[in-house]
Amino acid sequence: MQRKRILVTGGAGFLGSHLCERLLKEGHTVTCVDNFFTGSRDNLLLLRDDSSFHLLEQDICKELDVDVDEIYNLACPASPIHYQRDPVRTIKTNVHGTINVLEVALKNQARILQASTSEVYGDPHEHPQKESYWGHVNPIGIRSCYDEGKRCAETLFFDFHRQFGLPIKIARIFNTYGPRMYPLDGRVVSNFIVQALTQMPLTIYGQGEQTRSFCYYEDLIEGLIALMNSSAEFTGPVNLGNPVEFTIRELAELILELTGSTSRLVFHPLPSDDPQQRKPDITLAQRSLLWQPKTSLREGLQKTIAFFEELLIFRRDKQPQKLLRS
Ligand SMILES: NC(=O)c1ccc[n+]([C@@H]2O[C@H](COP(=O)([O-])OP(=O)(O)OC[C@H]3O[C@@H](n4cnc5c(N)ncnc54)[C@H](O)[C@@H]3O)[C@@H](O)[C@H]2O)c1
Repeated sequence: MQRKRILVTGGAGFLGSHLCERLLKEGHTVTCVDNFFTGSRDNLLLLRDDSSFHLLEQDICKELDVDVDEIYNLACPASPIHYQRDPVRTIKTNVHGTINVLEVALKNQARILQASTSEVYGDPHEHPQKESYWGHVNPIGIRSCYDEGKRCAETLFFDFHRQFGLPIKIARIFNTYGPRMYPLDGRVVSNFIVQALTQMPLTIYGQGEQTRSFCYYEDLIEGLIALMNSSAEFTGPVNLGNPVEFTIRELAELILELTGSTSRLVFHPLPSDDPQQRKPDITLAQRSLLWQPKTSLREGLQKTIAFFEELLIFRRDKQPQKLLRS
């Protein structure tokens, strides 16, 4: 197999660090660009001594100069708590940052993959969502810095493709979970697990009847690599996610069962623009990439719970408020 020079932006984050590891295992040289806004050096512990791994601590909103064959553009805070903390910065990352990364691709004639999101469908009127659906997004809401930022990034990718012939790939990623998620970052899986392990009440927004589908990170990483290696004509966008749908209440109950926790469920009002249903139609990925998720929610949760258990023991501190601050 050809050894490539691969740039992963956001490589110190949850998905990015797993992707870097996977690409290094395949024998490639990997450069990670990250400003550590939500990423962590702990995520890179297994990589830092690998001579094929290079870390560039930089914001993608600043001009980049890297020689590469392929680029995975993952840099962007992904959880509402993080992307709403500084919404202007979030949208700058998605627009200015994406332009900078696309310029690097253009200069190198490198293939570039965008980590887009199911959030481009907003609160969908079509269920499940196919790639042909244009979405139902509030352009002025509190989630818009992320949703509209990612939509604009997709537009930029297609404009660079049409105008300059840049080889692009767009993955629309649905809820993905697994080890290295940031504890209590507002993402439902990590929130519930940490709450269950610390015997705190599990916080459900609304009645918990809203549905989500949850993809284990290993499946997602395989999907991203299959997309990058797909034929040149295949640009996407392509949905990558697990189509098996659960209500939030079902997820909470499964986590209580798997952790053996006695935590109770508490109900809070739904935040604005929270989608009621989310489920990918993955026919295109199955057909074009021969990809589909293999890990059941139960199996993936067991591995994720084991990670959080270790994290809590390692920190010798079972108070989630402290985890949040660290
Ligand atoms: N995890 C999911 O369920 C999910 C779903 C849909 C889309 N995505 C997308 O996948 C990508 C990775 O998500 P994740 O879950 O690993 O999130 P994450 O927050 O763990 O990782 C994002 C990484 O990007 C870095 N970053 C943010 N802004 C940056 C900037 N301006 N310059 C350089 N680095 C920057 C952060 O420090 C972090 O390391 C994101 O683009 C996200 O939108 C993730």
